[in-house]
Amino acid sequence: MLSGKRILLIVTGGIAAYKTPDLVRRLRERGAQVRCVLTAGGAQFVTPLALGAVTGDKVYQDLFDLTDEQEMGHIQLSRDADVILVAPASADVLAKMAGGLATDLATTALLATDKPVMVAPAMNVRMWQHAATQANIETLKSRGVTVIGPEEGDMACGEFGPGRMSEPLDIAQALIDFFHGGQPLRGKHALVTSGPTHEPIDPVRYIANRSSGKQGHAIAAALAALGARVTLVTGPVTLKDPIGVATVHVETARDMLAACTEALPADIAVCAAAVADWRTADAAPEKMKKDGKGLPALALAENPDILATLAAPGKNRPALVVGFAAETENVVGHAVAKLKKKGCDWICANDVSPETGTFGGDMNRVHLVTGSGVEDWPPQTKTQVGERLAQRIADHVTAGADATGADAE
Ligand code: CTP
Repeated sequence: MLSGKRILLIVTGGIAAYKTPDLVRRLRERGAQVRCVLTAGGAQFVTPLALGAVTGDKVYQDLFDLTDEQEMGHIQLSRDADVILVAPASADVLAKMAGGLATDLATTALLATDKPVMVAPAMNVRMWQHAATQANIETLKSRGVTVIGPEEGDMACGEFGPGRMSEPLDIAQALIDFFHGGQPLRGKHALVTSGPTHEPIDPVRYIANRSSGKQGHAIAAALAALGARVTLVTGPVTLKDPIGVATVHVETARDMLAACTEALPADIAVCAAAVADWRTADAAPEKMKKDGKGLPALALAENPDILATLAAPGKNRPALVVGFAAETENVVGHAVAKLKKKGCDWICANDVSPETGTFGGDMNRVHLVTGSGVEDWPPQTKTQVGERLAQRIADHVTAGADATGADAE
């Protein structure tokens, strides 16, 4: 089931580290090759001798080991792996991963890798529930990291609640799901637009809007986590490209349309970008000057509608086209009208009134309009909205709904 898969297992400090020799055995039983990195904290709970015996390989501990750096190197460790699994993942290593710290071999390998990363958190319930840990988990998920568990139960510290590392068999199953199943969108191509567009007035000024791209990027990461090949076409944002997602950076609406058309064919399109409706009719080639002759008039031209273009009937039309509707009043009513006008299959209506903090913020409240009706989702983080939408899309696709979006109207 994991035949030929190379797993780099990073064991960090936590009592659950005592389960890792068993985890290694379960992974090897299923055909995986396992190599271990053991942190100083991890070595308090499990010995390198035990991990070396069950992996049949050297256990890597020290970043500045001259022999290791010559023979292997921290970069090579991740190059030689198909996936990196951090188990147990302590609150400390999650924080370092989220912050991009590289203070030892484990965190350096994690920062240097472009391979998929999975974490199995294990910690005291209060540490798990702490806002800092939850924010770190959100950050890691938004970058495409898969989180396994944690489970709820009696803890070594005598408390009860979520924070216990998933059992070795469940972690092995999560890896099998990752490689084979649990990826219902494997083989599908999803195109996602995200962020604002910038429409130049002259070489230094532009028309823009407040979109951060957080929602579109979260959707792209969530679709990739479900196995889709994802092309993300994004306007100017300060976010990192999600791991495992082919990201195309554009400035203007016309560039965005060209990049989307180039990316076709796709099975799924999700247009989450806040595309500028208008551009300047003629951007000035040089910086406009105050010449004392009065105010310049800004003549505008309408931008192409990317969603409507992708949703238009044609041989390249994705089977499922999902739009967003940014509204400030009569949210669902306007969204239903927009769905019809643009010809898409589903539309996610969201209230972007300033008091909701949606634009630029981390939370979103979505009403998903499909042909079957309106689903009112509770206020959630944009990561959660991305995951829920991706799962909803996967359910729709695997249910074999008709190619034009059978449950859309
Ligand atoms: N959209 C697009 N291209 C445009 C304008 C919008 O692809 N030129 C897409 C957005 O990505 C979103 C949907 O259309 O999926 C609706 O965007 P929204 O800004 O809510 O609506 P508009 O079409 O701009 O209409 P209005 O400004 O009148 O509300």
